[in-house]
Amino acid sequence: MCVCVCRAVARIAKPLCVCVCVCRYIGALGARVICDNIPGLVNKQRQLCQRHPDIMQSIGEGTKDWVRECQHQFRHHRWNCSTLDRDHTVFGRVLLRSSREAAFVYAISSAGVVYAITRACSQGDLKACNCDPHKRGRASDEHGDFDWGGCSDNIDYGIKFAKDFVDAKERSVKDARALMNLHNNRCGRMAVKRFLKLECKCHGVSGSCTLRTCWLAMSDFRKTGDFLRRKYNGAVEVTVTQDGTGFAVANKDFRKATKNDLVYFENSPDYCLMNKAAGSLGTAGRVCNRSSRGTDGCEVMCCGRGYDTTRVRRITKCECKFKWCCAVECKDCEEAVDIHTCKAPKRAEWQDQT
Ligand SMILES: *[C@@H]1O[C@H](CO)[C@@H](O)[C@H](O)[C@H]1NC(C)=O
Ligand SMILES: *[C@@H]1O[C@H](CO)[C@@H](O)[C@H](O)[C@H]1NC(C)=O
Repeated sequence: MCVCVCRAVARIAKPLCVCVCVCRYIGALGARVICDNIPGLVNKQRQLCQRHPDIMQSIGEGTKDWVRECQHQFRHHRWNCSTLDRDHTVFGRVLLRSSREAAFVYAISSAGVVYAITRACSQGDLKACNCDPHKRGRASDEHGDFDWGGCSDNIDYGIKFAKDFVDAKERSVKDARALMNLHNNRCGRMAVKRFLKLECKCHGVSGSCTLRTCWLAMSDFRKTGDFLRRKYNGAVEVTVTQDGTGFAVANKDFRKATKNDLVYFENSPDYCLMNKAAGSLGTAGRVCNRSSRGTDGCEVMCCGRGYDTTRVRRITKCECKFKWCCAVECKDCEEAVDIHTCKAPKRAEWQDQT
């Protein structure tokens, strides 16, 4: 699957879009004219792209949102989801290994595609969809009856298109990894749906709320990110069953994977050292927290290699005074803070040469 960031560069007859695409597996990064030159699209995806360039653009614009969410979720982690930015091939390698991290990336990117399409539908940006046409008439919830009104997010359309487009790649091959990807893609799509919420407006005599108009709206993408992060923590290592159609838990002592669990086949590298083949950037130079015992603590983050401390000066507002009337005046104060960063491994040969 490729995710593209597109920008219209000319609007003469038709808008011409130039897209920067990051593709799983292939890792080609460059400005491309939409669809024909996106490497790594399977036929079905190319057809969908040509039929729905506006949806492709929404998917592309949504990319930064799920990448940012991924980085937020893993900001205190050795693997921090940041390899997309510059070294896209490393990100590709992370995904080549059938690890827990790959499972997460497939899930959150699929969720991101659903979110982006659904939002674009509601904003009226897309030709193929609009607000959910089925949310009409009367309905009821635990507070009583209400009328559907406003714009309900058309998540079913978002899910359907994301499934057709994203899964097309996996459906073109029949192997264990494709099965894993399909499973995790689905988890991601369903995670967005889980956080749909009913929003209502009250009408009636002086706000008495005897009449309500309601619509279904997606929650902030953070909720999906938090949820998938918990699913990452509880991801289940599996193997493929003999007939090749399902999963069996790898370790019989552990619980079985349900359809809502992320699944993976291979252990993760420890991400301590630079090892491009394993998709690891290493943690040399990462900022750590000396007083934390968690994954952001210097002990864990630096993998026992130790850390360097630099004192930096920071300007803060201080000695603020209220001036009559009406302003607050502050002084600039200089404050020294210590920043700890992980040491690089001592021996150069520890580092992967690739
Ligand atoms: C993530 O880690 C890499 C490698 O250690 C580092 O270069 C990068 O700045 C980090 N990114 C973020 C967002 O912290
Ligand atoms: C470092 O970790 C401690 C303990 O978990 C926490 O209270 C503190 O806010 C953290 N400091 C920073 C700068 O994140």
